[in-house]
Amino acid sequence: MSTESSSYIPGLQNVPATRSAISFLDGQKGILTYRGYPIVELAKHSSFEETCFLLLNGELPEAGALAGFSNELRLNRRVKYNVREIMKFLPTNGHPMEMLQTCVASLGMFYPGSERMTAEGNGPSEEFVNGTAIKILATMATIVAMWNHIREGDDPVPPREDLSYAANFLYMMNEREPDAVEARIMDACLVLHAEHTINASTFAALVCGSTLAAPNLVVASAIGTLAGPLHGGANQRVLEMLREIGSPENAESWLEKRLANKQVVWGFGHREYKVKDPRADILQSMLEELREHRGGNISPLYDIAKALETAAHERLSQKGVHPNVDYYSGVLYDALGIPEDQFTPIFAISRTAGWLAHWKEQIANNRIYRPTQEYVGAETREYVELSARQA
Ligand code: COA
Repeated sequence: MSTESSSYIPGLQNVPATRSAISFLDGQKGILTYRGYPIVELAKHSSFEETCFLLLNGELPEAGALAGFSNELRLNRRVKYNVREIMKFLPTNGHPMEMLQTCVASLGMFYPGSERMTAEGNGPSEEFVNGTAIKILATMATIVAMWNHIREGDDPVPPREDLSYAANFLYMMNEREPDAVEARIMDACLVLHAEHTINASTFAALVCGSTLAAPNLVVASAIGTLAGPLHGGANQRVLEMLREIGSPENAESWLEKRLANKQVVWGFGHREYKVKDPRADILQSMLEELREHRGGNISPLYDIAKALETAAHERLSQKGVHPNVDYYSGVLYDALGIPEDQFTPIFAISRTAGWLAHWKEQIANNRIYRPTQEYVGAETREYVELSARQA
């Protein structure tokens, strides 16, 4: 049964899935704004805590509101002991994104309240929405960092309440308090990844949220969607690719072979951006800052990444394919001592702010997502008994 005129658009390219006031991007000009503020400004001047507030509430907070919000995030960092028990039963060589999705999916059982999604007549109270957003945001970093130690058979490093979100995360990961430059760079990375209009994982969050599922399940749906290599999983692939290239001199020949085999270059290309992703530029400048801070010593992978970018420019820029946010983020995380398979979980920690902002916007004016399809299968036919079927 096929239809002659098709309105189906693969990948829903250019199909608006919602109306949103949260972020805006112009892929031709390389502009990204959160609530109207350019990402370049936020990465320079804002903090992850302030950016979360901005995304969730629509405006930059005044000093008292920011202090209160940051304090709530600090006080909610601990997770129930049983979440740690769940982790102990997971295979230590499993991917941390699967661990993260499992633990986040379980949070609603340890911190009940999801019944309030539907029980309160006109939807959940503002108090529930804001409280649960803070709890989920606060525990994301703890869960990711706990796993880093538990999978090695070690006790996790408990969170500290005297550190910023970014500094505490690095402290819990590395058991060492980061210096001011490292903490600032991690903070800016979290700001940069916090939101990006209706990408695949945010769309998954919207669809799940529109059923009035509990917010931890909304985030769990988005985590699963972010895990794939065509989305958030690309940052890990970039590092594996740079290691495979081995040295800047090999970049050009490696690229030629790769393109001849019709394989993608990880960390390049974007459905929306047809110029270099503005976040890739900022991440690269932070790598330069870290290099200077460390007296010129930074991972050799950075030089390979630069050589590959130069080689790829000649071959891919005419197609509008340039480095995206995942290209330099992995090199930066590697330089901050973070294992490769934890790159995508860090993306998830940060993007939880955007997912929850979209969830909040969705449930404030909800209609369940229920698209349609173009059916291309068999006409209605009669059931054939097993004994009468031909081999
Ligand atoms: N490496 C090499 N060529 C690429 C490419 C890449 N990373 N990304 C796109 N292209 C090429 C395509 O092969 C296609 O070429 P063609 O016109 O000769 O067939 C052209 O650019 C258009 O790409 P298309 O596949 O239509 O883009 P898309 O919008 O469907 O896909 C991505 C976007 C992100 C899925 C794609 O760019 C990709 O796979 N990138 C690598 C994974 C990645 O880094 N993901 C993170 C995104 S933030």
